[in-house]
Amino acid sequence: MTPWTAGQPRGGRPRRPHREAEPDEHRFDHLRGTAGEEQVDLEKPERRFMRRRSWRLLVELSVGVRLKLLVTALCVTVAQAAQAATPLIIAWAIDWGLPRATDGYASGMWLPGLTYVLCALAAGVLTWVYTRTTAEVSQQMLFTLRRRVFRKTQRLSLEFHEDYTSGRVISRQTSDLESLRELLDQGVNSLVSGLMFMSFTAASIVILDWRSGLLLAAAAVPIAMVVRWYQRRSEVAYRRTRISSARMIVHFMETMTGIRAVQAFRREHSRSARYRRLTEDYRRDTVASVSLFGVLQPALMAIGNVTMVAVLVWGGFRVLDGALEVGVLVALVLATRRVFQPVEMMAMFYNAFQSATAALEKVSGLLEEEPTVTEPAEPTPLPEGSGRVDLEGVTFRYTPESPEVLHRTDLHIPAGQTVAVVGRTGAGKSTLVKLLARFYDVTEGAVRLDGVDLRELAQTDRNRHIAMVTQEAFMFSGTIAENIALGRPEASAEEIAAAARAVGADRFVEALPEGYDTDVNKRGGRLSAGQRQLVSFARAFLADPTVLILDEATSSLDLPSEQLVQHGLHRLLGRRTALIIAHRLSTVAVADRVLVVDDGRIIEDGPPEELAVGDGYYARLHRAWEETMRS
Ligand SMILES: Nc1ncnc2c1ncn2[C@@H]1O[C@H](COP(=O)(O)OP(=O)(O)OP(=O)(O)O)[C@@H](O)[C@H]1O
Ligand SMILES: [Mg+2]
Repeated sequence: MTPWTAGQPRGGRPRRPHREAEPDEHRFDHLRGTAGEEQVDLEKPERRFMRRRSWRLLVELSVGVRLKLLVTALCVTVAQAAQAATPLIIAWAIDWGLPRATDGYASGMWLPGLTYVLCALAAGVLTWVYTRTTAEVSQQMLFTLRRRVFRKTQRLSLEFHEDYTSGRVISRQTSDLESLRELLDQGVNSLVSGLMFMSFTAASIVILDWRSGLLLAAAAVPIAMVVRWYQRRSEVAYRRTRISSARMIVHFMETMTGIRAVQAFRREHSRSARYRRLTEDYRRDTVASVSLFGVLQPALMAIGNVTMVAVLVWGGFRVLDGALEVGVLVALVLATRRVFQPVEMMAMFYNAFQSATAALEKVSGLLEEEPTVTEPAEPTPLPEGSGRVDLEGVTFRYTPESPEVLHRTDLHIPAGQTVAVVGRTGAGKSTLVKLLARFYDVTEGAVRLDGVDLRELAQTDRNRHIAMVTQEAFMFSGTIAENIALGRPEASAEEIAAAARAVGADRFVEALPEGYDTDVNKRGGRLSAGQRQLVSFARAFLADPTVLILDEATSSLDLPSEQLVQHGLHRLLGRRTALIIAHRLSTVAVADRVLVVDDGRIIEDGPPEELAVGDGYYARLHRAWEETMRS
């Protein structure tokens, strides 16, 4: 086990860390009320592990673009060599060409001139080529990455999504990939070409005159110091700007997503004031971060100039002594002037580089997450289900650290039974049915459908046999017909309309301007909570599952609509197994059997009319219902 293993979840798989300590990590956590997660600095082995993971990902992504990468590397090398060679050509022109031209040979001028032009031309063309291939390589890698991130996040189990907030998932797909794009499109290019240019130029200086090479080596020391200083400071400053920008964005998001509450409680003034403070922080931090560059740039310039003057003066004396040729001196001065130029550019990309490596670490971490609810290697086929459901000794906790929500529960539901589940808030009703739909795997025991453990059932079979309608009926963008058809994509328009009719959704749909073709995201097509529930009932009706689960699915409906749904359901329920969680008597009354769940245990189990007499939870609930009816 690795030292960063957070714990041993169900199934014995180690949980990988996905709590990286990045300041913007939790930028939208406020929206889910989990803000303030501690920011921890990572230990060295973790860093090394994440680096290796990032590298692995880059290597994987490079499959398919390796030839282009090779071409790019070649072009960069030759282009930079050609560029670094120009001072040498000048030296050649002065020391060899000029005397030759003076002797009357024109080639003394045009040979170096032509070589210079050819070099410049080669550098230009190759730069054009490698800029293009870099963009192609980078976009191809990002294309693959984008799809992988999407597929992975979609495939990961609910447990992951509850832990890894939606804001973080969104920043993986957006801002992280954007930082990577910046790095891959430009950063790597300027880094590699800059380093090559510096090496070639330094080499040419050493070849021309090793004494000047010594001066260059001496200058490299203060430059390294300045760069190191900049790097340290800039890391801190950059981190600070990221934190303040994240705070600013969170505040903005929170205000705008909660705009109804903000306006209802007259919070505009205080929200604005706080936003002002946060933007002020951001302004200050950004200025501090940029100012660092203001120190680096002149420092580099000063060191570069001093070195150049030293080369010029020392070389000048040697020219006077006849120990050095004039052309060589000119070349040395030109080369010294240019040798440190890329440092500045590389420093400029340092921040981008930092955020890109952080992004890569986070994205590679996400990609290495494994769904906790896994597909069986050899699924047991279940073509025709009758709908018998068995829970055997089911114990469940959401995470290894959290308390047990269900305790050794046994439950046997014969095929075709309609079961109502009632109980106090937080008793574990939703948890029970979520286990049935296999949103989670049980901690101990087993859930079986027609005798087959859910863990051995293929996902397609499971989805075909079990459907769940919850309180939050989610609408995808598209028409109402498309939303209903989610239950069975191949359904015809008639079948869709029939399903809507069966649950009583037809009346409101037909009243819409475009009927079933109304776009649910357009004005006029916006549905109320109850209407959305009706659509999701129609969806479930169309899906025609063996086991139907309703978790407070009728809570937003008015009584007549609920009765209509129940009427439809009654037909629907006749043949199939149903579990209905409800707080209303009318819903519970249709059931063959009532389960009372309390504190993770089934404390009452029987037909409603039997449980209604006596002094149990259901009997009390029943009396309370009757009283409200009377009053
Ligand atoms: N995703 C989760 N992660 C951790 N704990 C959870 C999660 N969902 C629910 N719980 C906990 O499990 C317990 C049972 O919750 P559950 O949602 O099953 O209750 P419920 O009976 O459906 O309540 P309600 O009537 O309010 O919907 C609660 O104590 C709750 O805090
Ligand atoms: Mg619930």
